[in-house]
Amino acid sequence: MGFWRLSAGIAALAFASVAFGQAPIVIKFSHVVAVNTPKGKGADYFKKLAEERTHGRVKIEVYPNSTLFKDGEEMEALQLGSVQMLAPSLAKFGPLGVRDFEVFDLPFIFDSYDELHKVTEGAEGAALFKKLEPKGIVGLAYWDNGFKDMSANKPLRHVADFRGLKMRIQSSKVLDAQMRALGAVPQVMAFSEVYQALQTGVVDGTENPPSNLYTQKMHEVQKYLTLSNHGYLGYAVIVNKKFWDGLPADIRKQLEGAMADATRFTNEIAKKENDDALEAVKKSGRTEIITLTPEEKREWKKALVKVHQESESRVGKDLIQSIYKATGFDPGKL
Ligand code: LMR
Repeated sequence: MGFWRLSAGIAALAFASVAFGQAPIVIKFSHVVAVNTPKGKGADYFKKLAEERTHGRVKIEVYPNSTLFKDGEEMEALQLGSVQMLAPSLAKFGPLGVRDFEVFDLPFIFDSYDELHKVTEGAEGAALFKKLEPKGIVGLAYWDNGFKDMSANKPLRHVADFRGLKMRIQSSKVLDAQMRALGAVPQVMAFSEVYQALQTGVVDGTENPPSNLYTQKMHEVQKYLTLSNHGYLGYAVIVNKKFWDGLPADIRKQLEGAMADATRFTNEIAKKENDDALEAVKKSGRTEIITLTPEEKREWKKALVKVHQESESRVGKDLIQSIYKATGFDPGKL
């Protein structure tokens, strides 16, 4: 009797530990954009690689399009552990208390992806990630989207065209200063609310790379799109530090490898995704595309470059200077 009870107990224990050992580690990965964007595709590719390489020991649940958390909710959810992984735009770290990331929002600071990568893959990118750790967050990778264009229901060619327009922005004080420098009235709003706000006239216009404009159908409610390329939009893929540090070392290594490959993939497709989206906007015939003349572009640059100096106290003068050094940007030569 005692023997049978003991062996049943041992069998139950063995079963429980096998079942426990087999239960996958679940990573919820929440983001706010459509599946069919650089970030959406990058997240899905990371899921595929991570699940394959860990042979199912890790399950990645991707929640796109603000279906799990929206802007303004997701950072806190990450810190609380309600979600394990996010990829917010670099313009959304101010409310967390890490304002330095807003340096990426400075108008015209990057002319190309190559210039940008000198910073994200250099000492500055690593130093910015270090600043997340006291917040209980680990930065894993920088993912590209692309260069932003301005949209509205009136043509935006000259700086004076912005006067009094209500322009939706992300929660970045540098973007607030950018819109004010143009004479517009900035309004912070969650990405999930932008389409409706444009449709109902709560705001007059916005800025985004073509991939976001098109996949959120903003082109259906914006008559004009100016190809201004006036600023960069990209992401930091971040995880809850306690969760990440608590993973078995072999799993963490496999996930780091999957993230490195998903990063390469995302950054390789980003430009084409945006080029294709712009083509689709053109084809739709819903939005008139405006290309600035070199003189008009200079006018925008002249109005906007002062935002760099204005933002020194927000993002750090030294950081701005080291980016100038890395990219060769010279505010005196516009
Ligand atoms: C926005 O809010 O405009 C963007 O940050 C959305 C995104 O994640 O690309």
